[in-house]
Amino acid sequence: MKIDPRHFEGFNRVLTGVVVPRPIAFVSTMSASGQVNLSPFSFFNAVCSDPPTLAFSCSRYAPGWPDKRKDTLAHIEETGEFVVNLVVDDIAEAMNQTAAEYHTEVSEFGVAGLTPAPSDLVRPPRVAESPVNMECRLNQVVNIGEGRRQNGLVIGEIVLLHIRDDIISGHHIDHQKLRPVGRLAGNMYCHTDHVFELTRPVYLYRPGD
Ligand SMILES: Cc1cc2nc3c(=O)[nH]c(=O)nc-3n(C[C@H](O)[C@H](O)[C@H](O)COP(=O)(O)O)c2cc1C
Repeated sequence: MKIDPRHFEGFNRVLTGVVVPRPIAFVSTMSASGQVNLSPFSFFNAVCSDPPTLAFSCSRYAPGWPDKRKDTLAHIEETGEFVVNLVVDDIAEAMNQTAAEYHTEVSEFGVAGLTPAPSDLVRPPRVAESPVNMECRLNQVVNIGEGRRQNGLVIGEIVLLHIRDDIISGHHIDHQKLRPVGRLAGNMYCHTDHVFELTRPVYLYRPGD
């Protein structure tokens, strides 16, 4: 079967079903007036190591509302700051509680029973229950798509990374302790506790190749 995205109703469900598993950015933001927001995004990844850079994509408008903008993107465009908290097994259900399209005045920290912890370099708080928090400054927002379907690809530089001490030893991250959650399609998720190793082959370049 071949699928032309332009002529396949609901192609998004196929796309998010095959690009799996995706890590989940649990993004905390604060508006200029001090309103805090927390929401999950799985169109997310690390995209550059130097400067250390993350990207996630947020649709501009909230589904189900006539004209409400998603708070995450609005706050980031207003302030240029956000924190990406990693979603792990222990906070998966709390993360899910934050994903409804609440009024801007609602702080999802309260909805999900999560604890805001002060950040060092940016104003949005961190999620205390998440073992990894990345304080970020906005590099740029790249608009993708048009009108009500438009997404903002948020590209941000990590200016400070917090990690729970028992998870890191030198440069080594203990994934058995980290227990990150992967998103599959729709409401399906996976654990990442079954891991395996592949040694990468080395090809040595010789002049004349
Ligand atoms: C696991 C998960 C991943 C999600 N990923 C995205 C995403 O990548 N982009 C997006 O726009 N919305 C995504 N959503 C929906 C947003 O989290 C939801 O619209 C959220 O309420 C945005 O709220 P805000 O207005 O507070 O920013 C996701 C929801 C869940 C549960």
